[in-house]
Amino acid sequence: MSNGRGSWGSQLGFILAAAGSAIGLGNIWRFPYMTGQNGGAAFLIVYLVLVFTIGISAMLAEIVIGRAAQRNPVGAFAVLKGGLWPLVGFMGIAAGFIILSFYSVVAGWTIAYIFKSFTGLATISDPKVLGEMFGKFISDPVQPLIYHAIFMILTVAIVIGGVSGGIEKWCKVLMPALFLILLVLIARAVTLPGAGKGLAFYLKPDFSKLNAKVIHDALSQAFFSLSLGMGAMITYGSYLSKNTNLPHAALSVTFLDTLVAFLAGLVIMPAVFAFGFNPAAGPGLTFITLPAVFSKMPGGMFWAALFFVLLLIAALTSSISLLEVVVAYFVDEKGMSRKTAAIVFGTIIFLLGIPSSLSLGVWSNFKIMGKGFLDLMDYISSNILLPTGGIFITLFVGWAITERAKAEATNNGKIQFAWEGLWIIICKFVAPIAIAWILISGIM
Ligand code: PHE
Repeated sequence: MSNGRGSWGSQLGFILAAAGSAIGLGNIWRFPYMTGQNGGAAFLIVYLVLVFTIGISAMLAEIVIGRAAQRNPVGAFAVLKGGLWPLVGFMGIAAGFIILSFYSVVAGWTIAYIFKSFTGLATISDPKVLGEMFGKFISDPVQPLIYHAIFMILTVAIVIGGVSGGIEKWCKVLMPALFLILLVLIARAVTLPGAGKGLAFYLKPDFSKLNAKVIHDALSQAFFSLSLGMGAMITYGSYLSKNTNLPHAALSVTFLDTLVAFLAGLVIMPAVFAFGFNPAAGPGLTFITLPAVFSKMPGGMFWAALFFVLLLIAALTSSISLLEVVVAYFVDEKGMSRKTAAIVFGTIIFLLGIPSSLSLGVWSNFKIMGKGFLDLMDYISSNILLPTGGIFITLFVGWAITERAKAEATNNGKIQFAWEGLWIIICKFVAPIAIAWILISGIM
């Protein structure tokens, strides 16, 4: 591309990079514990419905906005329409800051667990011991901060390297590897004695468990997991060339992300029940359940280390997209160098993550609106900012730039896709109304 912003090597390169952004801790850490807290299969079904209606439409909307404008989220709204629209981009940048601050803390845990894999972690199957170990680690005032720092340094270093080189190459190897190891783990988990109860919990819906909170959590999980509502896909879409098939890309990314989350649940849920853990245990669920699974595998240490390495890389391919949103804005609009922007904002985000980490230990008594700091950051960004961003992004495509968006999605009429009409209807009415309704009823 002649504007010097860099671009993806190919359509596959984009799909891999965007799927790399989508697939991460959201699938393997957040999705299983959300499912566990929200009653299992009923949550899964609501989640799937939301992903393949609102989620996929918002995905295409973001990619379309990005490629049409070839800019960061703020600049994109400014060049395509102007007015107050760039505020949506600013909200996205704020969400990027907040999400990355606690994302990096949790990603740091995966680094620690790589090391723990070699020191006996994969030999323990007692839920009490694993729970205590996890609790002791995350509540330590120093250790998790060191790993948080290491993770931010890695993220900053990759973002300095630019979009097409590093990101694409990593994703090409990582995705298939992650997929394969999940299959191995599923084979182990579902054959554990007592796994059947977990499968039933995960796959046999009990609709009496549905309420406004479950639906709100499913929506926020969909936006978080698909990297939507804050302009990550606008930013990645802005590096796309004009002949890419956007509907196909949106569909592929949505499908891959959902598949990985579903598979992660298929590992965690059976294991949770087989070992007698509490499915509603919260954010520690993956970290206390998986080691128990490894302990029942030949070569458990090897599988544990391999798994946490893959999870770390998956987290990195997501965190770089979070930081990229912030960096792209300051590079495009404020003329900062990529390097300066990455280092300055990486540092600020690191600092913002410190209270999140401490809220699990020494600051655990400090609560705002009944939530610890990490929980609060997660709630504000995932449950409020991302869905709100989703309302405005779909409204923008549905009403403000309708014809331009259709032309962009079809490469000026060169390609067709069966769900074009549906997409516009969802962007115009269904998504904004449904999201607003879910937000309001979920918050009350
Ligand atoms: N989708 C990522 C994950 O599931 C997190 C993320 C959210 C990344 C929003 C970018 C934007 O881990």
